[in-house]
Amino acid sequence: MARYLVTGGAGFVGSHCVLALLERGAEVVVFDNLRQGHREAVPPEAALVVGDLADRARVAELFAAQRFDAVLHFAALSLVGESMREPLRYMAENAANSLWLADAAIKAGCLRYVLSSTAALFGEPERIPIDEECRIAPGSAYGESKLMVERGLAWAAQVHGLRYAALRYFNAAGSDPEGRAGEDHDPETHLVPLAIDAALGRRPPLTVFGDDYPTPDGTCLRDYVHVTDLADAHLRVLDRLESHGSCRYNIGNGAGHSVKEVIAAVERVGGRTVPHSIGPRRAGDPAVLVAASERLRQDTGWTPRYAALDDIVRTAWAWREAHPRGYDDKG
Ligand code: UFG
Repeated sequence: MARYLVTGGAGFVGSHCVLALLERGAEVVVFDNLRQGHREAVPPEAALVVGDLADRARVAELFAAQRFDAVLHFAALSLVGESMREPLRYMAENAANSLWLADAAIKAGCLRYVLSSTAALFGEPERIPIDEECRIAPGSAYGESKLMVERGLAWAAQVHGLRYAALRYFNAAGSDPEGRAGEDHDPETHLVPLAIDAALGRRPPLTVFGDDYPTPDGTCLRDYVHVTDLADAHLRVLDRLESHGSCRYNIGNGAGHSVKEVIAAVERVGGRTVPHSIGPRRAGDPAVLVAASERLRQDTGWTPRYAALDDIVRTAWAWREAHPRGYDDKG
């Protein structure tokens, strides 16, 4: 049976990936410091080791205790805005944790590594949709930190024979269609959960960050991709790494939806209005981010099952409605 180490497996994308790995019969060890992640997000079939990647002795112990077929690395600082207030922390922590993790894996003979990377690598993109050949020019310290990791892994591939995949997610959203996991960040900064909570009256009205962008309705366009489809992409990429070399993929549905369209989708799906007002732009937000994912589709046969915005919002709505206080809600 294959065994995987999943860092950040108690977080949003990581927990959905853990579900997918368990469904295919794999053994899963989650390593998470639970600062952002939730104990309840880890299914009982997975082992949870609470620890921090900065604790290198602990990480080495993990690899000494058992053999892993691959590492799936989700644990990271991931807020663009925060990264512009603490750039050095982002670069130091994300790069060091990710690269020392790869080092520990390689020393233990584990030569498969899947990295959670990001559309933030592309900054203000030179063309839309964004394919893997587009110019890499991060517009934030967060994006830069992931680029540092991708570069480090490329050297490890060359020198040590590591096979890695860098998966550049666009806007991960939605939740497990069976309701086993959902999105719960603290602080929450993402559009879909904030719009849903505003509609449910659980948070103040949503502020739309700018309506003067050069887009059809003036609000930013993003490529929302269902977190379960992202998890499926991880599984396919893991399989591919067995017979192919390292790879980099942009992952999205190839369709841009504006902030106003997301609000309309939440209103349609939830049957309630989303109270909102128009505010100033948020620093660092590119007008349009849409992925070209043909490479992933061609190489792995990946086809998103929940590409429709309403399906993404429907699953997110269901989970948040059922968990008024997120994972802290035991009732
Ligand atoms: N938005 C609002 N109001 C809010 C929150 C968001 O109008 O209260 C808008 C944003 O301006 C943006 C869109 O909704 O246009 C989506 O914002 P999110 O914060 O949900 O997501 P981002 O597009 O900022 O972030 C995503 C990923 C990051 C990645 C980034 C790349 O979550 O990991 O894309 O730019 F780094």
